[in-house]
Amino acid sequence: MGYSSLTRRQFIRFGTGVLAAGPAAKATVLQPSLLSTYARAVPPSDTVRFASIGTGVRGCELLQASLRVPGVECVGVCDLYDSRHDAAKEAIKKDVPASRDYRKILDRKDVDAVIVATPDHQHRKLLVDACLAGKDVYCEKPMSHTVEDGFAMIDAAQKANCMIQIGSQGVSSILYAKAKEIYASGRLGDVFMIEAYSDRNSASGAWVYPIPPDASEQTIDWNTFLDGAPKRPFDAARFFRWRCFADYGEGLAGDLFVHLISGIHFVTGTNTIPQRAQSTGGIFRWKDGRDFPDVIETFYDYPNFRMVLRCNLNSDAGGLVAFFGTKGTMTIKDSTVAYKPQDTRPEPEGYSIYGWPARLRDEYLKKWREEHPLPAPLAFHVEEESETYAAPPDYDAVADHQTNFFNAVRTRKPVVENEIFGNHAAIGCHMANYAYFNKAIAVWDPAAKKIVKA
Ligand SMILES: NC(=O)c1ccc[n+]([C@@H]2O[C@H](COP(=O)([O-])OP(=O)(O)OC[C@H]3O[C@@H](n4cnc5c(N)ncnc54)[C@H](O)[C@@H]3O)[C@@H](O)[C@H]2O)c1
Repeated sequence: MGYSSLTRRQFIRFGTGVLAAGPAAKATVLQPSLLSTYARAVPPSDTVRFASIGTGVRGCELLQASLRVPGVECVGVCDLYDSRHDAAKEAIKKDVPASRDYRKILDRKDVDAVIVATPDHQHRKLLVDACLAGKDVYCEKPMSHTVEDGFAMIDAAQKANCMIQIGSQGVSSILYAKAKEIYASGRLGDVFMIEAYSDRNSASGAWVYPIPPDASEQTIDWNTFLDGAPKRPFDAARFFRWRCFADYGEGLAGDLFVHLISGIHFVTGTNTIPQRAQSTGGIFRWKDGRDFPDVIETFYDYPNFRMVLRCNLNSDAGGLVAFFGTKGTMTIKDSTVAYKPQDTRPEPEGYSIYGWPARLRDEYLKKWREEHPLPAPLAFHVEEESETYAAPPDYDAVADHQTNFFNAVRTRKPVVENEIFGNHAAIGCHMANYAYFNKAIAVWDPAAKKIVKA
């Protein structure tokens, strides 16, 4: 039998007469259930009153999403840039007290929880102070700006017994829930390799956001923005494009790797810090004075698998998370999860025996066929189908993520993406940057709770 002949597996498939064009694909639209479940479960007396600290791009998105969450009410907003007070009120479609000073929110007895949606260098201060004031906190991703920040945040949350959720919404999405179910079913076999990327190709994708016309030192509290960062004169580009700068953000790792890591941890049931990370990349195109690379690829070691992540701000390849198992492959792309089984039924060797003389090859094949007789015609095995699951068009994982948080505020039962989970994912991001900037293998030292060089 040569390369152009049917393999035994193909023969068996053809023999069934139904799958001659290859394995069939089953497509299913997933049903969102979380919001409707909670809609029934929340009596009016159980309304959670929350306020938002940071009402920029993400803060406004979260406020809009909160309108879809049953049993919650936004009662105040806070931001350092005055025009964002208006943007926040527009997002929630009502007037609420607005301030530049987050302490005015934390001092209010009628606020149960806060959303922290500020640049990352402010997360620690805001979360710790919110916990000291007894507020539960939905804190945007990545949880921390530094490794030390993360452990201080865990300490504050646990001492105050506050509910914390970090903002990688994939962890609450119906797509990732389906992916987790498929992974846990064992149908992928053993998964030793996971690859994911998140690529974009636009000025907005590279964080070169326009500066609003009214931005000035009069409309922005620049000094408070610099809290926890080096002092410097007012610079609107740093305020609005903070992700480019190491004083406030973590570049692509903190912006996008964190979603990939959180999603992969959730699907695989991993809740640890990677053991090692190696990065490569560079600033190839967006040479605007930024600190962070516009291409980064990082290789991670975990005890039971390896993971490769990439972000490229010079391509519109979009996003993909792929789990390569010994029995099947699963991919998460856009709003779909696809599972493709591999045919692992026995096959005679079809390659190396062509370097044998015919008599040995024939002898081997004869013996193999005797040991593996073809099934009788009626016993032909129909192969497992490929499967695709899609979220419905109006599906919003952010509202589900908020629903999980606000439900934890009511029930006091921790969410999946709590401060421990969020800290692990954030440290994975810090390891990517450590490896990139130090041109070294980043190793997690659990005893010292530090990233060190190999
Ligand atoms: N989960 C997601 O998909 C997602 C998407 C986008 C952003 N984010 C995260 O959300 C956070 C905010 O990002 P963004 O894009 O909205 O940034 P942004 O610059 O648009 O808004 C941040 C706002 O925080 C305000 N702020 C800063 N310090 C403050 C303080 N001490 N008190 C009150 N307000 C303060 C600023 O004035 C600014 O308006 C970041 O952590 C980011 O990583 C998450």
